[in-house]
Amino acid sequence: MSTRKIPFGGDYNPEQWPRPVRDEDWSAFGKASIDTVTLGVFAWSYLQPDEDTYDFGRLDEIVAEAVAHDATIVLATATGAMPPWLAHRYPEVNRTDFEGRHHVYGQRHNFCPSSPVFRRLSVELARRTAERYAGTPGLVAWHVGNEYGGACYCEHCAAAFRVWLRERYGTIERLNDAWNATFWSHLFSDWEQVVPPNALSEHWRGPNHTAFQGITLDYRRFMSDQLLACFRAEKDAIRAVDADTPVTTNFMGLYQPIDYHRWAPHLDLASWDNYPPGTREHARMALAHDLMRGLKDGAPFWLMEQTPTITASRDVNPVKRPGVMRLWTWQAVAHGADAALFFQMRQSRGACEKYHGAVLDHAGRTDTRAFREVAGLGAELAALGDAVVGARTPARVALVFDWDSWWAVEMTDGFNRHVSYVPTVLQYYRALWQAGAGVDVVPVTADLSGYDVVVAPLLHLLKGDVAARLEEVARRGGTVVSTFYAGRVDEDDNAYLMDAPGPLGALFGVRVDETDSAEPGATNPVTLRVPGSADDGAAEVVSGAGLVFEVVLPQGAEVVGTYGSDFYAGTPAVTRNAFGDGEGWYVATALDDAGVAWVVGQVLERHGLVGPYAGVLDLELAVRERDGVRTAFLLHHGLEPVEVAAHASGVDLLTGRELRRGETLRLDPTDVVVLREHP
Ligand code: GLA
Ligand code: ZN
Repeated sequence: MSTRKIPFGGDYNPEQWPRPVRDEDWSAFGKASIDTVTLGVFAWSYLQPDEDTYDFGRLDEIVAEAVAHDATIVLATATGAMPPWLAHRYPEVNRTDFEGRHHVYGQRHNFCPSSPVFRRLSVELARRTAERYAGTPGLVAWHVGNEYGGACYCEHCAAAFRVWLRERYGTIERLNDAWNATFWSHLFSDWEQVVPPNALSEHWRGPNHTAFQGITLDYRRFMSDQLLACFRAEKDAIRAVDADTPVTTNFMGLYQPIDYHRWAPHLDLASWDNYPPGTREHARMALAHDLMRGLKDGAPFWLMEQTPTITASRDVNPVKRPGVMRLWTWQAVAHGADAALFFQMRQSRGACEKYHGAVLDHAGRTDTRAFREVAGLGAELAALGDAVVGARTPARVALVFDWDSWWAVEMTDGFNRHVSYVPTVLQYYRALWQAGAGVDVVPVTADLSGYDVVVAPLLHLLKGDVAARLEEVARRGGTVVSTFYAGRVDEDDNAYLMDAPGPLGALFGVRVDETDSAEPGATNPVTLRVPGSADDGAAEVVSGAGLVFEVVLPQGAEVVGTYGSDFYAGTPAVTRNAFGDGEGWYVATALDDAGVAWVVGQVLERHGLVGPYAGVLDLELAVRERDGVRTAFLLHHGLEPVEVAAHASGVDLLTGRELRRGETLRLDPTDVVVLREHP
């Protein structure tokens, strides 16, 4: 799809207010250069007031208004929330939760993905919506459902799970083997004996900690696939009448219940909603953007939602400080977003989102700070035009992200329940980000042949030929980094019957003799030093390591870091192994941030990948490239002004200012420079 510029605007739900207010809306949109609206996400109950009646009158009017204003339109299939009559007439559409409670009507995003009635009626609504609005001037994308997620444990899901298992395993013997069912006398003799792993069956320590990890892992995969089947069914209905317009659904970034990599092939365009959990999450947001970009092999994605000001869903909901909404929007663009959209255009009148921030507040003012900042950003994006639309993000570093490992690490009993996947991945990502290395966040199945460095934290569960492809990275001169817990289990979550890190042992040149754990907060000082450097302390860093301490016996690897205390004091905590023309680094413990930054820094230096602003805390550099032209985004997330020497000559597309390489550049907090580099 090609657009003239980055679409700017977002969710617009004017069915909630009277007509004259809508005229005010459009005049305000004009003032803010808002050109894009997402319509109909929660329209089901008025589009279909009962099973036999469809009434598109209200949506027709809203769409006609958007067309009259020459808007770019994202049109939803309206299946994000169910109407009361549906749940009342067909209780099967409601979910059964982990505790086994069958729900009644309420909330949203909570249909049973295996309900035949839901499937039939949601697809029918998508079909009618597509039929009616395909070809609408300005329609650029279809938005199926909304923020798919959660899980259901009802009888329909149980039956569908059995079908899914039969397809996966073929025979009950294979199933028993995959689940290691001889443990606790679980040998199944018939598919009908299989039930979903919930509080009534494999109860152990909550939804993510059931007693049989293979069953739970498969249930997560199944549920992700089952929700995907709902998306695909609606997409097919759209495709039957509209062959080209991209179809997407809004993802949630670092969201555990759905394996977005398994969904990605079925989307035409990746899009996601950015609601960071805190106010100082720039590295986490960058990771999520890169993960979303990685879904479609680095193709630009859409920022489908963010709040212009505050969210309403947290206990405490601070406003975005002056300049922050703009900074975060440019950060999304810097990481590959080709659309910048908000939730929502005008504040809701009632219910749980009435205080969620919007472009227009309850009074509809255009002189609020929030509106002024939106309008300022809108003007900048309009002036930027198509300068970066379609541009890719060149990266020499890949960070491997894997939902199966995420699930397996966090559902497993032993070694330490305090280890969690995203914080560990984020630690490594943050170190790469602060060093200014462009990163692609990729699935284990990605082609790794273009990367100098591959970082795969907590690569616990190995699938397919990933071990061989990681070896290949090192063999041709690259560097691979992984951590404790790596290479422990196969695709079924059964342990490899060999030394850890299993099939990764040759690459890292180590074997794990045993694995010790400690309470959060307890540390073991790990001394890190480049092998061969002078033993004078100058090249040394001491990192407080915690949680997990693998006792490692080198099998050819050199020692880079050693534990300082306990019975394994003096033994390796970090190793480096020469492999082919490259190296495999193994980090056998949870180093603190400084330790991780040191390891990552050593690796990046080896490949000349440390960025020009690496030493300037919270100053981000991200590059997009199209037809050989580089656009560098400098984003200052720090709290103090900084001065740096410009890394390249070029023109700041936001101000028209010419910059020479080496020239002093002052950046205040929240400042953004969009440097079109001169060749
Ligand atoms: C999500 C949803 C929106 C809205 C916002 C508010 O992203 O998709 O419908 O609820 O959150 O935070
Ligand atoms: Zn169900």
